[in-house]
Amino acid sequence: MIDPYFLDWVGLLFRWFHFMMGVAWIGASFYFVWLNNTVRPLESGGKPGVAGELWAVHGGAFYQVAKYAGAPEKLPKTLHWFKWEAYLTWLSGFSLLALFWWANPRTTMIDPQVMALEPWQAATIGATTLFGGWLVYDGLCRSPLKNHGTALAGILFAFIVATAYGLSEVLSARAAYLHVGAMLGTWMAANVWRVIIPGQAAMVDAMIKGEPPPIERGQAGALRSLHNNYLTLPVLFVMISGHFPATWGHPRGWAILAVLGLIGAGYRHHVNLEERGQAKHWILPALGAAFVGLALLVRPTPAAPKGDQPHISMARVQQIVAKHCLACHSSEPIQPGIAVAPKGVKLETPEEIRREAAKIRQQVVVAKIMPLGNLTGMTDEERELIGQWADQQ
Ligand code: HEC
Repeated sequence: MIDPYFLDWVGLLFRWFHFMMGVAWIGASFYFVWLNNTVRPLESGGKPGVAGELWAVHGGAFYQVAKYAGAPEKLPKTLHWFKWEAYLTWLSGFSLLALFWWANPRTTMIDPQVMALEPWQAATIGATTLFGGWLVYDGLCRSPLKNHGTALAGILFAFIVATAYGLSEVLSARAAYLHVGAMLGTWMAANVWRVIIPGQAAMVDAMIKGEPPPIERGQAGALRSLHNNYLTLPVLFVMISGHFPATWGHPRGWAILAVLGLIGAGYRHHVNLEERGQAKHWILPALGAAFVGLALLVRPTPAAPKGDQPHISMARVQQIVAKHCLACHSSEPIQPGIAVAPKGVKLETPEEIRREAAKIRQQVVVAKIMPLGNLTGMTDEERELIGQWADQQ
C-alpha cells in the first residue's frame, strides 16, 4: 500500500498531465474542424489540387494553410500526425481511474444504499463499462448502420443513457457518472488509435504505391471523427461534474446527464454550423432554455418551514459528526487512505461544524454522498436530524 500522502501527489501529477493532454487534444481537434469548415477557394486561383486556402495571423506571424482536395502530387518529407495528445490523454485518465477508483472501490465506487457490492465486483463493473462499451460501439459503427448516420447516433445515444442508468443502479452516483465519461473518452481515443490513424496510414501507403486511396477507410475515419466532435463537450462536462453534486447526486442523475450531454452536443452542432456559415439562430436560445429549464426542474424541494421542529442541540450534532465524519474530517484522519482532511473540511469543533453547515447539508442531506461510501452506516434518521439542524442555522 502506497503512503496516502504520496499517493495524493501522484494524483496531482497524473491529473495535471491528463488535463494538459486533454487541452492539447481538444485544442488541436477543434482547430482542424474549424480549419476544415473555414478554408475557402482563393479568389486568385490556387495551386493545382488545392481545394481551399486560409490566411491567419497569430502570435505576431502570418500563416497560410492549404487544404488539398485529394492527396498532393508528391508527399512532403515530413508529415505531421496528431495522435499522441489523444493517446496520452487516455493513458493518464485510465491510470487515474485504475489507481484511484478501481484500486479503492470501497470509498469511491460502492454505495451500500445503492448496492452492497464487493470491491472486486465494483472494479469489474468499471472495467467492463470501458472495454465492453468500446466493443459495442465499435461493432455498431462497423455494422450496416454506418451508412445511416442519424439512426446510428440515435442508437448510440440510447446506449449511453442506458449505461448511465444501469451504472446508477449498481455504483455510487459519482462513480456512475465518471464511468460514463471514461467510456466515452475511451471511444474517442480508441477511434483515433484503431480507426482514424490506421485509415490515414493506409491512405498514405496507397499514395506511395500509386494506388487509389481506400475510400472505405476514409469514410470510417470521417464517421469516427464526427462522433468525437460531438462527444467532446459531454465528456468534458463529466470530467468536471465532481464539483456539481446537484447533478449526479440527484435521484435521476442519469437523466440529468442525458440532458446535459444533449446540450453539450447541441452547442457543438451550433459551432459547426456557424463555422460553415450555416448558423441556425434558434439553437443557442433553445439550448439556454433547456439548461435553465433543467436547473429549475431538478431543484430540490425547499425544507419545511422553520419553527415547528424541535431545536437540535449542538451536542447531538457533534455526537453524529464524531461517529460518522471525524475518521476523515479531522486534523489527523485515522481512515486508511485519507492523509489530510478532505477538501480542508475539518469538523472537530462546534465553530468548524457551524461554518460548514450549508456544505454539510448539501453533502449529507441533499446529495447523501457523505459519509463517503457510507462506510460508517449513517441512518436516514441521523441525516434528517442533520438536515433539521442545518435549517435552523
Ligand atoms: C471515509 C472518509 C470520509 C468520511 C467518513 C466523511 N467524508 Fe466528507 N469527504 C471525504 C472526501 C474524500 C471528500 C472529498 C470529495 C471530493 O473530492 O469531492 C469529502 C468532502 C466533504 C465535504 C466538502 C464537499 C465539497 O465539495 O466542498 C464536506 C462538506 C463533507 N465531506 C462533509 C462530511 C460530513 C458531514 C461527514 C459525516 C457525516 C463526512 N463528510 C464523512 C471523505 C469522508
